[in-house]
Amino acid sequence: MTFRQQHLLGIEPLHPSEITTILDLADSYADQNRRNVRHEPILAGMTQINMFFENSTRTQASFELAGDRLGADVMNMAMQASSIKKGETLIDTALTLNAMHPDLLVVRHPHSGAVDLLSQKVNAAVLNAGDGRHEHPTQALLDALTIRRAKGRLHRLSIAICGDIAHSRVARSNIMLLGKMENRIRLIGPPTLMPSGIADFGVEVFEDMEEGLRDVDVVMMLRLQKERMDGGFIPSEREYFHRYGLDAEKLQFAKPDAIVMHPGPMNRGVEIDGNIADDINRSVIQTQVEMGVAVRMAAMDLLAQNLRAARKPDGVMV
Ligand code: NCD
Repeated sequence: MTFRQQHLLGIEPLHPSEITTILDLADSYADQNRRNVRHEPILAGMTQINMFFENSTRTQASFELAGDRLGADVMNMAMQASSIKKGETLIDTALTLNAMHPDLLVVRHPHSGAVDLLSQKVNAAVLNAGDGRHEHPTQALLDALTIRRAKGRLHRLSIAICGDIAHSRVARSNIMLLGKMENRIRLIGPPTLMPSGIADFGVEVFEDMEEGLRDVDVVMMLRLQKERMDGGFIPSEREYFHRYGLDAEKLQFAKPDAIVMHPGPMNRGVEIDGNIADDINRSVIQTQVEMGVAVRMAAMDLLAQNLRAARKPDGVMV
């Protein structure tokens, strides 16, 4: 088993064998979660603080549940009501928290790079729960586990990522992870929502859904990230759905057994037709949520092991 990281800041620094280590452990947690097995209190005596400077439903809930299931003391900082609103800087907040000696810090922040910066100021293991449009590593890992369980493998698959690539940290982390595991990645979307220079990442770029979806194994839809747009990137939501929204007609171009994914929150009738999202024969959207808890348990378990190994018996960092 190999996992050498002190923090989980992104997919970029991970070796493929580290990705496999997380997924293998998460796989067994997913099975245990289904069987309702009582978990070993791997994180007993450890304190996990969740700091979400940006709204979140499933990510925060699943980190909280993951910590609870492993026996950690979990605290959610109410960042909306906190001293950030009174003008405190990120670093001062970090130092304040650090003085409370947390072991695991789960951070979501609207600025790319903020979580990385924070990790340099604290003694805890830091998990990036999404920073701006940069990375969202646990989302890419849960997507990978969902694909591996549905398709029986995580290599040599043809995977389409569709929609608002430019503003999406989910897309960035997935492009890196699926690329490291040697899959063929196709990006589909309007040129206004495609980051410049993206073809250098070893992906194929398409403007047209019919062309891009042809014979793919996996169709991953993305939300239009309106909160990160400062102007008109699309003519109208109606027009966008017509050209890029996934419906039964467009899905026909993919392989007959292609699975449909979405990280949530979904905008039905904008990037995805509600009937496709609810089709239990094609959509694995609920499985993604389920795998999210297992992946976060695995990531925190592995980081806690490294944290313990790095500490002297008296709890001080070596
Ligand atoms: C994503 C996020 O916050 O980056 N959601 C999530 O974590 N499940 C995607 C999104 O907001 O569209």
